[in-house]
Amino acid sequence: MPDFDQIDFFTDQTIVDDPYPYFEHLRARGPVHREPHHGVIAVTGYDEAMEVYRDNAVYSSVNSVIGPFPGLPFEPEGADISAQLENHRTDFPMHEHMVTMDPPEHGRHRELLKRLLTPKRLKENEEFMWRLADRQIDEFLGQGRFELLSDYAQPFALLVIADLLGVPEEHHDTFRARLGAQKAGSIDEDEAITGNSLGFLDAQFTAFIEDRRREPRDDVLTQLATAKFPDGSEPEVLDVVRAATFLFAAGQETTARLLSSALLILAERPDLQQRLRDDRSLVPGFVEETLRLESPVKADFRLARTTTSLGGVEIPAGTTVMIMPGAANRDPGRFGNPAEFRVERPNVREHIAFGRGVHSCPGGPLARVEARVSIERLLDRMAGLRISDAEHGPAGERRYRYEPTYILRGVNALHLEYTPKS
Ligand code: HEM
Repeated sequence: MPDFDQIDFFTDQTIVDDPYPYFEHLRARGPVHREPHHGVIAVTGYDEAMEVYRDNAVYSSVNSVIGPFPGLPFEPEGADISAQLENHRTDFPMHEHMVTMDPPEHGRHRELLKRLLTPKRLKENEEFMWRLADRQIDEFLGQGRFELLSDYAQPFALLVIADLLGVPEEHHDTFRARLGAQKAGSIDEDEAITGNSLGFLDAQFTAFIEDRRREPRDDVLTQLATAKFPDGSEPEVLDVVRAATFLFAAGQETTARLLSSALLILAERPDLQQRLRDDRSLVPGFVEETLRLESPVKADFRLARTTTSLGGVEIPAGTTVMIMPGAANRDPGRFGNPAEFRVERPNVREHIAFGRGVHSCPGGPLARVEARVSIERLLDRMAGLRISDAEHGPAGERRYRYEPTYILRGVNALHLEYTPKS
């Protein structure tokens, strides 16, 4: 048993493959506990995590993605650092993205996005997903084996967002070639979508938006280009471009991790796989339980604006608070036998894998449909989905490598075998 007090959650590779014993160690110290290495307040309790998510007045999102790194751009003074924070806001990495904004500015940008994710757009996007799932599976079906992330989940999640944003299908191969092989990492675009690919996205969307503003057409890109802020003002082209490109950063790797965890569970559990094959109405609950048990976002951050107290622990203004959805979703006070996978867990939708409050994931409904469509089509077209013993070792001695990041949870490769169905 490792000495968990010595383990630095942010850098230690030994807890990457299985972080759950470490989460339980934190929980044993209390639902809110100051970890000793960076002075970060770790929140493993469900109720306490909800409290942080819901209180934007006390907890700022300015550091939501980066957490305690690279450190504050100022020395916190006193019990209220709001003025300091606002003076230095643009010194924080990713300050231009909505995920780091606070109300009321956050609301203006979120509203812009809401105008795009209309029920009609989501319905058309789902129709695209069914076609895309089959097209992807066609690429390797005859081989009897595939690597889920690179052969299916990453290109699938990428092209779903491209379609959502109205990128014409003739551009999809270019998007896949430029963005498909990126390093899997965090929702921090600088890690997940690096260098050239970020430049590529910016250039593509700037060109799309400028073109549609010049010559509106009857298409989704025109809706994006002409969407207004709630007060009726027209956003800068750059604001629209950022809203669009951030979706790739936020929605691709997270969804790919959800798919890999879901397929890993299905392939390891033939009994469960058979139940889902026999009764497809179980699929949505299966997806929710996967989100709960293997929450793709392990850590989400806030900065205390004012000195406060949470779960009996005093938190000085300027402290980084780390909400841990993967731990809170295993809080025994909320979920009975939390480490057990229960496909029909009655309160499963209380999980906080998509966060809560004003920043709660706007892509949640989309990710859920992506998972459902993918599971349905993979089950339809493949009999006896199973883990590749050659790649991962025999049952009972499996080897899975997980992404070495403190933000995301998921294997970095999942090799599966099956018998193609006609
Ligand atoms: C399983 C897949 C996903 C998971 C687990 C996930 C998780 C999350 C979480 C926990 C947050 C809250 C961050 C915070 O409060 O600091 C968030 C925000 C966000 N997500 Fe997702 N997400 C997923 C898929 C997607 C998809 C598919 C999209 C878009 C196509 C997306 C777009 C966003 C955006 C734009 C935000 C920022 C919202 C805001 O700041 O108001 N996500 N996501």
